[in-house]
Amino acid sequence: MARTSLLVFCICFINGILSYDLNDNKFPDDFLFGVATAAYQIEGAWNEGGKGENIWDNVCHRVPSPVVNNDTGDIACDSYHKYKEDVALLKDLGVDVYRFSLSWSRILPNGFDNKINVEGINYYKNLIRELLDNNIKPLVTIYHWDLPQVLQDAGGWESEFIIDAYLDYARVCFREFGDDVKYWLTFNEPKQTCHEGYASGGKAPLIISPGVGEYMCSRNLLLAHSKAWHLYNNEFRSKQQGRVGITIDSNWYEPASNSSEDLAASETALRFNYGCYADPVIHGDWPKQMKENIARRSKAQGYRRSRLPEFTEEEIKYMRNTVDFLGLNTYTSSVVRAIAQPDTTTLGLSEDTEVDEWQPEDWEGSASSWLKVAPWGARKLLKWLKYAYNDTPIMVTENGYSDEGTLNDERRINYYQGYISNIRDAMEKDDVNVIGYTAWSFMDNFEWLRGYSEHFGLYHVDFNSPNRTRTKKDSAIWYQNLMKTRCVAEKCKN
Ligand code: NOJ
Repeated sequence: MARTSLLVFCICFINGILSYDLNDNKFPDDFLFGVATAAYQIEGAWNEGGKGENIWDNVCHRVPSPVVNNDTGDIACDSYHKYKEDVALLKDLGVDVYRFSLSWSRILPNGFDNKINVEGINYYKNLIRELLDNNIKPLVTIYHWDLPQVLQDAGGWESEFIIDAYLDYARVCFREFGDDVKYWLTFNEPKQTCHEGYASGGKAPLIISPGVGEYMCSRNLLLAHSKAWHLYNNEFRSKQQGRVGITIDSNWYEPASNSSEDLAASETALRFNYGCYADPVIHGDWPKQMKENIARRSKAQGYRRSRLPEFTEEEIKYMRNTVDFLGLNTYTSSVVRAIAQPDTTTLGLSEDTEVDEWQPEDWEGSASSWLKVAPWGARKLLKWLKYAYNDTPIMVTENGYSDEGTLNDERRINYYQGYISNIRDAMEKDDVNVIGYTAWSFMDNFEWLRGYSEHFGLYHVDFNSPNRTRTKKDSAIWYQNLMKTRCVAEKCKN
């Protein structure tokens, strides 16, 4: 592996200010390395085994379809039937942990816990058993965007009833799987659930309510998270001894200059994106930047009260410190600068942020329009999280690179090498408490509205074959080596 002998790996940007050397130190022995997936993206079997319809089934079956090439997750990677083969591949890869999600409508086809689908429960019990028998720890996401359609028909995340519906679902998960699962994530990327699902039209259920419905969603989702954490804490923790976190996504927002306005713009962007969800579950309330901007803009727009729904004093106390660890999904960075005279008439999360954001043309791209390679941003983001959230342990639960699907995926290897090296730097040089890393993704899968056109996998999946044949890419071989050496270089230090 010639590339790994490259000890000095320099990325230059803005007069060489942003650069890094490849960190060839080993990760600690108890650091959890693994790979990640999500139910709708890999399972298939959309109407088998007693599963109910969810919002992604619904969106994919619409005519005309909003998904590229009319792709669906009906079969996806067929992991519902191929889970044993998948676990054998994971074993071969040598991972410590496998992050996957539970499909709510496979477990509770009606959305509510009045009907529990034993076949669905058994599918996950078998998967978990297979993992444990092969010495792989399950890291389980309870909700990765696939709301039962019946619950969406009743209002979904914009309606308060969803808080207790989620709580009841989480209770079933802790009760059924909690003896074997020690790492839980209540939610995956709440920003995408709320902003893309209820404002921008980028994710199911494709509702367009910018600056209004999206914040109701955020509020309900945060209360649902806290209730689930308290439930675990009060009723399951002493017996099951697990840890419950939430996975939040964010770019690093690099200030365009050192001016105080641009530094403040970076802080505001971080608080509107990561902080919108992390501030409430750690500090108890929305970030002050969100409260101030949205109240001011709502007033200018003639609203009687802020479009950002408030939390009561009681809710603030209840939500504070309701995570055992923070999950971070990070793929890319952007540059930000303050907007001198923001347009106050517009609605929406990015409009309310009042920050100008872009990605320079000369950053290396990928198959995804939003994903440009900026590994140094991961270190800066981790350092920021440490200070913003009282040194809460962090698990990097997603990070990865998309291409058009080649097996000789050198660009993906370079991406992983750069990002993982920067994460090691953050741990060593900035003293950030990072406890694990799960690469996105174990295998190529259904990339939401982009269908099967963007490939993130370490394994290639042949979606034209009924067998959904999995083939190891070069990056899987590289990752396998990382699992053995536990550092990004061929020869590790210490
Ligand atoms: C975030 C999501 O959690 C995952 O479902 C998605 O496939 C990846 N990012 C890549 O876009």
